[in-house]
Amino acid sequence: MTECAHRLCVAPMMDWTDRHCRFFLRLLAPRTRLYTEMVPATALLRGDPRRFLAFDPAERPLALQLGGSDPEELARAAALAEAAGFDEVDLNCGCPSDRVRRGRFGACLMAEPALVAECVAAMRAAVRVPVTVKCRIGIDDQPVPEALFAFLEAIRAAGCRIVIVHARKAWLAGLSPAENRTVPPLEYGVVRMAKEAFPDLTIVLNGGIRDPEAVRAALAWADGAMIGRQAYTDPWSLRAMEEAAFGTPPPPLDRARVLEAMAEYAEARAREGVPVRAIARHLLGLVHGLPGARAWRGRLVAAVHAPDAGPWVLRAAAAALAEGGPRAAAA
Ligand SMILES: Cc1cc2nc3c(=O)[nH]c(=O)nc-3n(C[C@H](O)[C@H](O)[C@H](O)COP(=O)(O)O)c2cc1C
Repeated sequence: MTECAHRLCVAPMMDWTDRHCRFFLRLLAPRTRLYTEMVPATALLRGDPRRFLAFDPAERPLALQLGGSDPEELARAAALAEAAGFDEVDLNCGCPSDRVRRGRFGACLMAEPALVAECVAAMRAAVRVPVTVKCRIGIDDQPVPEALFAFLEAIRAAGCRIVIVHARKAWLAGLSPAENRTVPPLEYGVVRMAKEAFPDLTIVLNGGIRDPEAVRAALAWADGAMIGRQAYTDPWSLRAMEEAAFGTPPPPLDRARVLEAMAEYAEARAREGVPVRAIARHLLGLVHGLPGARAWRGRLVAAVHAPDAGPWVLRAAAAALAEGGPRAAAA
């Protein structure tokens, strides 16, 4: 089995894959590459960089995803990311939201391969870590696969070696970002053609991968598989997907132990002023599919919103799990 640093990845997801979520996912899946939420380069350069760049070393391997289309700004933002210890800088060319489009970044950049190539070249000149691109197979009425091929050609010429392809088009007019993750059909065949046409590129398949079978099927021809929503809604399922990707299971663990580790983490964050609810909200999927999950989640949500809430509520939630709340299977 060829080892690729991108063999299994969790996708960048705004509002979801913040540092707390990533720390949690890392406990479950030690070999999976993690991505931040998208950070606009402008926000990073004009705001307080620490706000966007803080992470726990345990989260590595970790990529920072940037949004932007100004080569000079992106280069400066990439340099900050590298200095902060990120293992990769990824450029978002797949997000379809109006706000992002107004800023001339995200998926609309699929129509501007030359500009993206300039951005990649500028970022690469500023850092030694890999500069990667996450894109769609095309936008609107762009021809498939020609538009993707032209895009890949341009970024490869600029030195990009690793591309993550969300295997559906983005329709920029008329669909919301959420619809743009479900309505345009998944077309794995197009990504596969791209891998055949650009064998020297590391191509990571993204979109609709939800179980070990799908991971195995992707890795039969792609270099990596990137999991988005499934990793958030049912994070425990990442463990079976890691086993499928790497051939061996991750070290044994049970859910109560994960919660105890998160309670310890929450104690450290509490000293920095982070409320426990900012961490607990990412943990609700941990009991996905278990009998009794709803009631357990309800109790946790109520507890973290109580006036006296603190990291101890996670210890209590762990104890409830260990005592046979939702049936927590050991792995
Ligand atoms: C809540 C949410 C936020 C997202 N934010 C980003 C983002 O910041 N950058 C990005 O490239 N993609 C973003 N995406 C898209 C995912 O990275 C991924 O491409 C998409 O969900 C398809 O993969 P999946 O079918 O495995 O979920 C987001 C998706 C969701 C559900």
